[in-house]
Amino acid sequence: MLPRWVLWCCVVLLARPAHPQGAQQCPAPNAIAPCTCSVKKNGLDILCEFTEQQHIQKAMNTLRSKPMIIFYLKLRHNNLAKLPSYIFLGLDIRHLTVHNSTLAVIEDSSLSSIGNKLTQLDVSQNRLATIPTSSFTHLNHLLILNMNHNKVTAVHNKAFLGLDTLEILTLYENKISVVDGEAFKGLEKKLKRLNLGGNELTAVPQKALALLENLKKLEMQENRITSISEGDFAGLRSLDSLGLAHNQLREVPAQVFSHLNFLNSLELEGNLIQRIDEKAFVGLEENLQYLRLGDNRLHEIPSEALRPLHRLRHLDLRSNNITYISEDAFTGYGDSITFLNLQKNMVHQLPTMGFDNLNSLETLNLQNNKLQHIPEEIMEPILDTLRVVDIMDNPLICDCDLAWYEAWLSGLRDRDDEMMQKKRTVCTMVNEHREYSVAKMPLEKMNCKRKPGYGPSSASNTCPILVINFIVLATRGL
Ligand SMILES: *[C@@H]1O[C@H](CO)[C@@H](O)[C@H](O)[C@H]1NC(C)=O
Ligand SMILES: *[C@@H]1O[C@H](CO)[C@@H](O)[C@H](O)[C@H]1NC(C)=O
Repeated sequence: MLPRWVLWCCVVLLARPAHPQGAQQCPAPNAIAPCTCSVKKNGLDILCEFTEQQHIQKAMNTLRSKPMIIFYLKLRHNNLAKLPSYIFLGLDIRHLTVHNSTLAVIEDSSLSSIGNKLTQLDVSQNRLATIPTSSFTHLNHLLILNMNHNKVTAVHNKAFLGLDTLEILTLYENKISVVDGEAFKGLEKKLKRLNLGGNELTAVPQKALALLENLKKLEMQENRITSISEGDFAGLRSLDSLGLAHNQLREVPAQVFSHLNFLNSLELEGNLIQRIDEKAFVGLEENLQYLRLGDNRLHEIPSEALRPLHRLRHLDLRSNNITYISEDAFTGYGDSITFLNLQKNMVHQLPTMGFDNLNSLETLNLQNNKLQHIPEEIMEPILDTLRVVDIMDNPLICDCDLAWYEAWLSGLRDRDDEMMQKKRTVCTMVNEHREYSVAKMPLEKMNCKRKPGYGPSSASNTCPILVINFIVLATRGL
């Protein structure tokens, strides 16, 4: 049996607080000035702004003398044309930002010493004209690389070789016109998001992209792409979201997206699209939910191409040149649509049965068209699911046909302020040569009667009350 004092001693030893943990502590403020330091949960947060390389270098020397985890090192708005070799030697930096700091050169050995800890690197808004491949090559824990707003003109073969863990790469707003076939070699296993938007691409860099079999989101908006063709997106078999907005596409040819079986969202707005092939969306049947075609030159709803898209929820056709909506415009795919935007077109008449199968529609925007009449018969099939309808800026004529709108609005009262503002929708009373708010049409004076044989109730209510009943039911169902 051990003597009592030995046990006592053990208890005392165990009860003693553990060796004080290397709690993170900022250096004395003047030792790193003009940089500042604060302590964050996971390490230090160091900020250096509006200063010069020599001051930054001095602050790094101070930080080096007492090793700490630097969770954020943020260098912004500085005069730091060059990241010299070994500037971060001996430091443990997890997130590094060098933003808006005239940076043009990243020397080969400037980042290698922090490569096994760095997870995010942001060198946005600088003067980098090439991808500094050899200085990146040891960043083998990097998850996010942001090179937005630089002056890169080309992405050459193996530009990112070594960045095996990279998940997000953004090159938005550079001057890239060339992407070599093996530009993204080494990124194929992990890369999930790639932003090539705001560059000078004239075609889809098909060969380079084809390696990226795990890519989920690809952004190529705001380039100068004039055409896309079958095979352009081959290989991108995990893609969920594709952004081609604000390019110069004139048509969407057959089968062009046929490899993108998991695509959920497709953005094509702001192009010059006049023609969409009947087979343009082949391959997208099972997953496409969001389709943006606004700001193009379509003359009609591309119904034949859309029909197979039986999961489509959000269809945006605003600012086109659609004059006419056919009776079968939404046949086959209308069931799943919740959002339909036809704002800023030239539609002058709605099809009598055209909205019949828009059974899930919640938002309908018809603002700024050429509609004179929006008859209740046309709207009736969708009124019970509709939450937002915008018919402003149409040359509406005040007639009994429009009574549904007033009733529908009063049903919404106090529910949606934005919707209430739409009460400013006006119509013209032809015989009085004046305008009325549609919500305040003088229905008595207009002698409006419910059309016989229409509606679920055969009692001779006036139509507004009938519609209010509709809304009450719909509201209860929400
Ligand atoms: C970039 O930094 C300079 C100082 O070097 C500053 O004057 C300028 O406002 C900054 N620009 C932006 C967009 O932050
Ligand atoms: C819209 O189409 C009409 C003919 O259908 C044409 O006269 C007009 O120029 C087109 N407008 C635009 C903006 O393309």
